Amino acid sequence: MNQDMQKVLFSEEEIAQANQKLGKLLANDYKGKNPLFVCILKGAVVFLTDLVRQIPDSVDLEFIDASSYNGQTTTSGEVKILKDLDVSVAGRDVVFVEDIIDTGLTLKALMDLFKERHANSIKIVALLDKPANRQQNVKVDYVGLQCPDEFVVGYGMDYNERYRNLSYIGVLKPEVYMNN
Ligand code: IMP
Repeated sequence: MNQDMQKVLFSEEEIAQANQKLGKLLANDYKGKNPLFVCILKGAVVFLTDLVRQIPDSVDLEFIDASSYNGQTTTSGEVKILKDLDVSVAGRDVVFVEDIIDTGLTLKALMDLFKERHANSIKIVALLDKPANRQQNVKVDYVGLQCPDEFVVGYGMDYNERYRNLSYIGVLKPEVYMNN
């Protein structure tokens, strides 16, 4: 285990099982539809690469980088697009791929944006659902694992851009935050 880690929440094996379960569901629901999987950078990259390899049919991949405005001065539905897709989503069956849903602000805003862009359908797959802190009532269609109310890192998720490369998901020791 990494020396900064206090405990492992989800092992590599538990994550692999969750990916298999999600892959089966998605493969079945999107058979013959050639869905557009939109990976939300950067945290969902590791999850995306494992997830899509569970799906035998054709799937298109795109990447978006977005940050939600969480200040009082703007509406919660606004999102700043830092990197947009390279293709149109009009008429496409979109599946947002997210590492963890926390407040729900990012996904709510992206769903509104993609509705305006005339996607045919929009669903969400998230490896982790952390409902404790939810501010927007977004429907997460496919959830891998339920996450307790803790800040987690690993398997794509970071603290100050670190720990994304860990193959498991865990909680950092409190002193790691104090020293940063
Ligand atoms: P939200 O649902 O709009 O709050 O945003 C979710 C995003 O916040 C995720 O894609 C992560 O990048 C980040 N995030 C939320 N909770 C955590 C966590 O526990 N660890 C690491 N990143 C997190």
